[in-house]
Amino acid sequence: MSTAAKEQLRVVIVGHVDHGKSTLVGRLFHDTGMLPDGKFEAIEEMCRRRGMPFEWAFLMDSLKAERDQGVTIDTSQIWFNHGDREYVLIDAPGHREFIRNMVTGASNADAALLLIDADQGVRSQSRHHGYLLQLLGVRQVAVVVNKMDLIDYDQEKFRAIEQEYRSYLEGLGVTPTCVIPISARDGDNIAAPSENLSWHSGPTVLGALAGFAPPVGNEDAPLRLPLQDVYKFDDRRIFAGRVESGGFKVGDELLFSPSNRTAHVASIEAWNAPAPVTQASAGASIGFTLTEQIFAERGEVISHVDDAPIETDVFHVRLFWLADRKLAIGDMVTLKIGPASVRATVEQIERVIDVDALTDRTADSVARDEIADIVVRTAQLVAIDSHQDLPRTGRVVFTDRHETLGGGIASMDDYPDQRDMVTVRATNVTAEAHRVTTAQRIERNLHNPGVLWFTGLSGSGKSTLAMALEQRLFDQGYQVYVLDGDNVRGGLNANLGFSPEDRAENIRRVGEVAALLADAGVIVITAFISPYRADRERARAAAGDSFHEIYIEADLETCEARDPKGLYKRARSGEISEFTGISAPYEAPDKPDLIVDTAAQDIEACLDQLAAYIAEKFRRS
Ligand code: ADX
Repeated sequence: MSTAAKEQLRVVIVGHVDHGKSTLVGRLFHDTGMLPDGKFEAIEEMCRRRGMPFEWAFLMDSLKAERDQGVTIDTSQIWFNHGDREYVLIDAPGHREFIRNMVTGASNADAALLLIDADQGVRSQSRHHGYLLQLLGVRQVAVVVNKMDLIDYDQEKFRAIEQEYRSYLEGLGVTPTCVIPISARDGDNIAAPSENLSWHSGPTVLGALAGFAPPVGNEDAPLRLPLQDVYKFDDRRIFAGRVESGGFKVGDELLFSPSNRTAHVASIEAWNAPAPVTQASAGASIGFTLTEQIFAERGEVISHVDDAPIETDVFHVRLFWLADRKLAIGDMVTLKIGPASVRATVEQIERVIDVDALTDRTADSVARDEIADIVVRTAQLVAIDSHQDLPRTGRVVFTDRHETLGGGIASMDDYPDQRDMVTVRATNVTAEAHRVTTAQRIERNLHNPGVLWFTGLSGSGKSTLAMALEQRLFDQGYQVYVLDGDNVRGGLNANLGFSPEDRAENIRRVGEVAALLADAGVIVITAFISPYRADRERARAAAGDSFHEIYIEADLETCEARDPKGLYKRARSGEISEFTGISAPYEAPDKPDLIVDTAAQDIEACLDQLAAYIAEKFRRS
């Protein structure tokens, strides 16, 4: 039987093991005539012989062993045809396996059948399941209330369960496509409407399956092809992977991330293709060759130059934690993002979510089976997407060797795409050497050059201290100059606002200018919030050894009480958006070279502290 031309719909079956998943599927097959001839009778007979009551689960187990032409079952997927469609029913043996399969993407589903036991009503696990489906973007959910026979097909009891679960789902923003009372064991409302449930006017389970909208193809989405492997054949290098979204053709220019290299497609090598293949799209596992020789490793994400994935070393994860041990702030973890693997640190636990009450709380750690919003910082730049934009490349799995510890979905809120920070666009340029040496400049200035990088919240005192320090050092004969945020934003950076990307670019430029001034022999004091660690690290890399990160520290309350420019007040009232500390993040330095506490000391004491630091570090050596 060929299924090639058929539309395929993947439906995940969600529910507690005891809520009758196997029974539902067995009954569905029986009532739609999909069981092999005599199979049902054979199992009935076997049960009679052994003195056991008939169980649909036995039947499903025996089918798993056999593989019939109409029904194919492996450990967690069952294929069957009905109407014009092929359905893949996706099952998982238990709650934890289900969550693992869902968060790791092993079970990509277009729709869900969510089972509730009529006798037990809505349980915490039912809410967990609904939450997970919503989170992973499975929007078509048919709720099936099973075991109606146990409550005498009572409409009122059913309505109470329906009402309770509908209102929970509504809290998540999900509207179920239908809520169906059934008895899987007795075949009520499975393939045919039930007389026992004549008050139910909605569809049967089979009707609900047929009523699900067709899967949304992601061929039109931006190209994402995570590189699985590079094979060498003769002198050719074949790049292999699965197209997760979008498509490409021979001749296209492809971008590899995070290495940021580009090359053109020479050929596409599809396995088992009768004719030469010139294009590939979502779902295809392919190999391809390039016109140019470039070095690329497993884990790189291939895209077109426009619409590329985000490059970052920090992002949010909504995490499902499955391991027995707790996950705490500061823990080192290994993250898998598609085939890429990277070390990362848990930087923040923003909140732990109570899935039952849909409330959240703060916490220092995440325990087994908890859901939390966390921030992770990776050891190097990774190529990733926000799950909301591209689900397949916006997922992360926490692993320890081969064990899955947890999984979740990524989002970038407030964090900039750092690609522009690391992309060099100029070609055919060659650096010229200066004839005046650093040593000669030091000889003339009688002090070392360098960058004193002040970072801290708005109102922490950066500008005040910078200008006062500049005066003091100038009076002492130093070559010194202040680069100040508010000043630079009137000129060099007049085209930048306060979005994460603009702030990153602001700091990139200032970091480069500061490095140039330091190269010219000057002591540069910079006064910028510079809220992102990655940006400050790049500024350090630009200036090299002469860079000093100085944390001008004052807590938010103190800064807000000072409010020298009245900006906090306006930020609180919503008049200014993306304001650091209020509605935009500030990442305090991890290991600053110096901390100047402006909440605890007055200005003079702070200046003395800075002057002493300068005398120690910058006096001519
Ligand atoms: S940074 O975040 O990109 O480093 P920068 O130091 O240049 O910021 O500019 C900060 C100054 O801009 C603040 O001291 C404040 O006067 C002003 N400002 C205006 N809007 C904002 C905002 N949304 N967030 C922070 N500062 C702002």
